[in-house]
Amino acid sequence: MVSLKSNAEIELMREAGRVVADTLRVVTEAARPGVTLKELDALAAEHIRAARALPSFLGYRPYASVPPFPGVLCLSVNDVVVHGVPNERVLRDGDLLSADCGAILGGYHGDSAVTVAVGRADPAAERLALATREALEAAIAAMVPDNTIGDVANAVQRVAEAYGYGILRDHGGHGIGTSMHEDPHVPNSGRPGRGYRLREGLVLALEPMFVESGRTDYRILPDRWTLVTADGSRAAHFEHTVAVTGDGPRVLTAL
Ligand code: MF3
Ligand code: CO
Repeated sequence: MVSLKSNAEIELMREAGRVVADTLRVVTEAARPGVTLKELDALAAEHIRAARALPSFLGYRPYASVPPFPGVLCLSVNDVVVHGVPNERVLRDGDLLSADCGAILGGYHGDSAVTVAVGRADPAAERLALATREALEAAIAAMVPDNTIGDVANAVQRVAEAYGYGILRDHGGHGIGTSMHEDPHVPNSGRPGRGYRLREGLVLALEPMFVESGRTDYRILPDRWTLVTADGSRAAHFEHTVAVTGDGPRVLTAL
């Protein structure tokens, strides 16, 4: 069931989104060679706590078959696409890091992710991250009344095809509000005009995930969370929480 949000609820979601955006800014500024993923996670935990919010991911357990997520952030390096567990891994020059953050404030969630190069980026990594960001921007632009989920999905797909990147299979965005994951699911590929019709008050987390090699398949590591590309090629991930409003798309997790 899709829940539409009132303007007052969207303002509350903006406050949660602001905490998420600030946290990602702090984390990406700290993401230098020599820093561990655990250190970045501790920084995020402290920042969210100081904002009087709570982390959405810590302890999250979608099914009984997976352990509770052990971090505040998902930190996904190089061939890790998403759901990377913050561990003792040390960041190195040239690593491609996705930082994904969720926080709840006033009963509402914000969810956002960015991909950044650690130290000096190689041009291929830069291109992959830029394309994924471009896909997110295209999806945001499609967040207008009377478009459909298929239009949003197709906007992402077209960017991936233009660059020759693979779209991670089985994964996509989601509705968001008082729960981190609400209906509808938002695929990263689809046909224009298909699916649920967008209306004012709909809030979605849009999250393109692109694979450098063009493949779409993946494996999940024995920790049951870390999702890596099947062929070891790199991936990028960007995410924003976005509301459909009468004045156009509103990015609730913008800085
Ligand atoms: N942005 C991710 C998602 O929407 C974050 C979930 S990570 C988890 O699925 F650890 F909470 F599962
Ligand atoms: Co999400």
